[in-house]
Amino acid sequence: MRVIYRVILGRIIKSISLSFVFKLYICLNLWEIRIQKKILKPHSEAKVRLLGEYLKRYLNIIGNDGYTERIKIYDLFCGEGIYNNDKEGSPLIILRAIKDLYFANVAKIKKIPFIDCQFNDIEARKVEKVKQAISDKSLYYAEYGEIDFTVEDYQNEIKKISKYLQSVKNQKGFIFIDPYGYANIKAGDIRTLLSTGNSEVLLFLPTQFMYRFDSKGTPIALIDFIEDLSIKYQDWKITDSVWKFIGQLTDAFKKYLGLAYFVDIFTIEKDPQTVFLLILFLKSY
Ligand SMILES: C[S@@+](CC[C@H](N)C(=O)[O-])C[C@H]1O[C@@H](n2cnc3c(N)ncnc32)[C@H](O)[C@@H]1O
Repeated sequence: MRVIYRVILGRIIKSISLSFVFKLYICLNLWEIRIQKKILKPHSEAKVRLLGEYLKRYLNIIGNDGYTERIKIYDLFCGEGIYNNDKEGSPLIILRAIKDLYFANVAKIKKIPFIDCQFNDIEARKVEKVKQAISDKSLYYAEYGEIDFTVEDYQNEIKKISKYLQSVKNQKGFIFIDPYGYANIKAGDIRTLLSTGNSEVLLFLPTQFMYRFDSKGTPIALIDFIEDLSIKYQDWKITDSVWKFIGQLTDAFKKYLGLAYFVDIFTIEKDPQTVFLLILFLKSY
């Protein structure tokens, strides 16, 4: 009898410990995935570095044009500002570019234009984290301009921004669009923002998800994206080369926007198949 008990007990302990070890293993993996998600990856680091370098030049030129009185910077997908590996996301990079402009030019430019920032994300928790990081790192001073934090769907903000920029004089707008995917990005939104005549848009696109797809065929989101560019999907050339895809996409944007606008691209190559794309849109002069 005792032997039977012992065998049964042994089996129970074994099954408990096996399922416990298995659960622990799953938990640790999920935990690692969550941590990984909150780490700024090298390609994103390159992306925000490019944003910072471009903004420094942009602010220097516009700040010195003797005409612009106010610059509005909109970061419509601002994320959380700071990552678990202490790397900085777009809101902090933007504020550093503004701070640099002040330090470098305070003696040179008689009157530095006000530079207002809006940091928006659909997740309130992330926007709160951005606020905290800006305060912890003392990156904002009222003399730079106003700062606004919003928790909105970016599509609502686009309408407000274009209405605002259309209604003002001697002001310039810079809009950074950095979504996770491309499903909600509409070429029409870019055109609406540019049509104000005083704005520039920097759009990040995860091209690696856009040119290759599985046996289920072309995702509806990509067909919509292409057809928004006024191209019939039948006329789109399917390719397994990311570079050809990027070339085709750039040409499509140029054609869609016409000669009044300038389209330029920056690419970040992680490996031969994984290339990230930043597209800069501005008015041609
Ligand atoms: C790629 S992350 C942004 C990263 C950030 N720019 C940075 O440099 O750290 C995309 C962000 O878009 C936000 N998001 C997703 N859908 C959105 C929407 N419809 N409107 C506004 N934000 C959205 C997500 O919460 C996420 O923080």
